[in-house]
Amino acid sequence: MPKLSAEKRRVREHTLSAPLIDPFQRTINYLRISVTDRCDFRCAYCMSEDMSFLPKSEVLSLEELERLSSTFVRLGVKKLRLTGGEPLVRRDIMHLFRGLSRHLKSGELEELTVTTNGSQLTRFADEMADLGVRRINVSLDTLDPHKFAAITRWGKFDKVMAGLQAAKQAGLKVKINTVALKGVNDDEIDRLISWCGDEGFDLTFIEVMPMGDIGSVERVDQYLPLTQLRAGIEEKWTLNESDHKTGGPARYVEVMETGQKIGFITPMTHNFCESCNRVRLTCTGMLYMCLGQEDAADLRIPLRESDDDAVLEAAIREAITRKPKGHDFIIDRDHKQPAVGRHMSVTGG
Ligand code: 5AD
Ligand code: SF4
Repeated sequence: MPKLSAEKRRVREHTLSAPLIDPFQRTINYLRISVTDRCDFRCAYCMSEDMSFLPKSEVLSLEELERLSSTFVRLGVKKLRLTGGEPLVRRDIMHLFRGLSRHLKSGELEELTVTTNGSQLTRFADEMADLGVRRINVSLDTLDPHKFAAITRWGKFDKVMAGLQAAKQAGLKVKINTVALKGVNDDEIDRLISWCGDEGFDLTFIEVMPMGDIGSVERVDQYLPLTQLRAGIEEKWTLNESDHKTGGPARYVEVMETGQKIGFITPMTHNFCESCNRVRLTCTGMLYMCLGQEDAADLRIPLRESDDDAVLEAAIREAITRKPKGHDFIIDRDHKQPAVGRHMSVTGG
């Protein structure tokens, strides 16, 4: 064993003696950080076209985000995911990746990942791979350029395709996230599965969740339960149950014909909260203990109040004691209001 400095030993002993455990005995070892609520797309299920974003003055600096994340790592968080909005549109974002990658090198952090819409991957794939990122999630709901334009409103399909190739070239493992949208991409499921097979990408389907006002679009018209989608997939493909786990909420099967995995994230039809190991930080320092609940802890206050990380640690520990048992999303004609007012782009996927 290499000799540890007294300081490191103190920190390690503290972490070992007191990991983050919530009232339902779930260990919290996964933090998702939405580094910006802004995005260069306007996906119809995620945002309204005239979204208003947080004023820049309220957003934490990259240094503050790094200090906060590092505190979580000290408290036993093993996996960090940067999300948004679109994380790669935040100015100088590689600075944060660089700062966090030192925890990968020290072994304290097991994984640094990102969820992206793919638009900036030609710029950043190589650098992310160099900094120790191994896997990325890329949101892509269709392979049809016209549908892509309709869904994302502002997205450029060719740029995303080029970004995916850049990620592959850089050696990043890619997982495609596809939100199942009734009447929009339900006729493309087989094509997505075979394309992912050809490219060597895993694929995860997500049920649309009632988060945030999305303008004139009705959730109930978008919502496609994955039980239905899976039944359709099973008619064409041989699926083998897989015990693959990524620390996220997806349940996986292996497609025998392609050798790739398919994940199902079913916040609506199946509640996965019993194994929830994560909390979410927004770019203003609000810590949400659950994606589907309004309660949050304002960590910006202790962060700015004192340079002493012990104050921050205490605030985080207090927040974890408030982690709720689960979410309760409902989409039907009687529930027209979103379950939570904030958009997915605030707390990140
Ligand atoms: N319901 C389900 N998924 C959503 N996403 C964005 N908004 C919603 C929503 N309301 C997805 C994005 C991305 C991931 C982070 O979350 O498409 O894949
Ligand atoms: Fe942007 Fe992702 Fe929301 Fe689309 S789903 S608008 S890419 S944050």
